[in-house]
Parts: sequence; structure tokens; C-alpha cells
Amino acid sequence: MKKVTKVLTYGTFDVLHRGHIRLLQRAKALGGHLTVAISTDDFNLIKGKKSVFPYAERKLILENMRLVDKVIPEKHWDQKISDVKKYKIDIFVMGDDWRGKFDFLKPYCKVVYLKRTTGISTTQIKRRMAAIKQL
Ligand code: CTP
Repeated sequence: MKKVTKVLTYGTFDVLHRGHIRLLQRAKALGGHLTVAISTDDFNLIKGKKSVFPYAERKLILENMRLVDKVIPEKHWDQKISDVKKYKIDIFVMGDDWRGKFDFLKPYCKVVYLKRTTGISTTQIKRRMAAIKQL
């Protein structure tokens, strides 16, 4: 029987948008099984980020997408090697804003950087929403 290729990606995935969807579509297409590690609220604080949706809600949304097979928490910077080993990951995927940053995973799995979708980000959506005047 052919082994399913397991893909892993990391991110905050707050206020889901087309850039996230396109990233997840291309990640899933690289294999048959996609795990998404999402930053916990505590880890976001360490990164200097505050999400609109708390971890439990971001997890609920991703878990209910047909592209996503599994959601795990990202709690700190140093868990990637152990996640790759634990979940028997074949391909690690990130947007190319992180190009080169995760090459240290190459002894453990294939590392792929996908082109970021232009013209959209969670930060940009937050700014747009703040600028909308209440009627
Ligand atoms: N991503 C992408 N294209 C975008 C935005 C994000 O491909 N326009 C990818 C990122 O490269 C990353 C994943 O989606 O691999 C999760 O990114 P995340 O940081 O959660 O999304 P952003 O919209 O970049 O969030 P923020 O503005 O808060 O940094």
C-alpha cells in the first residue's frame, strides 16, 4: 500500500483569509495529509502578536476545513524538530517570508517555501477594519 505523504506547516492563522487558504491548498497538494501547528495565545505574546480569535477558536475553524487533517499547538520556537519526528512528517512547508529560516529541518524532512499571496495579511485586515467608520 502506498504511504501517505505527511505535510506540516506553522502559523497563527488569525482572521482566516485567501492568503491562508492558498497556502493550505498548496501545502495539502504536496501530500495527502496536512497538519497545521497554530500558535497558542501565550506563544503569540512571546512573538509580540495579539490575535483577534483565541487559540481555541482558530483551532475550531481549521479543524473544520476539509484541507486540514490535524491541528496541533505551537507553544515555543524549539518544537519543530520534535514535531517532525513525532508526527513522522515528510514535508515541512512555510510561506517564503520565512525562506531559509527553517533549513535546519532538512536532515529530518523536505523543506518547502511557498510564495506568499500578495496584497493580503491579517495585519492588513485588522487595519482595514479599524478604518471602517461605524454607520
Ligand atoms: N501567508 C501567505 N500569504 C499571505 C499571508 C500569509 O502565504 N498573504 C502564509 C504565511 O507565509 C504563513 C501562513 O500563511 O506560512 C500563516 O501566516 P500568518 O502569519 O498566520 O498570516 P499573516 O496574514 O501573515 O498574519 P500577520 O499579518 O498577523 O503576520
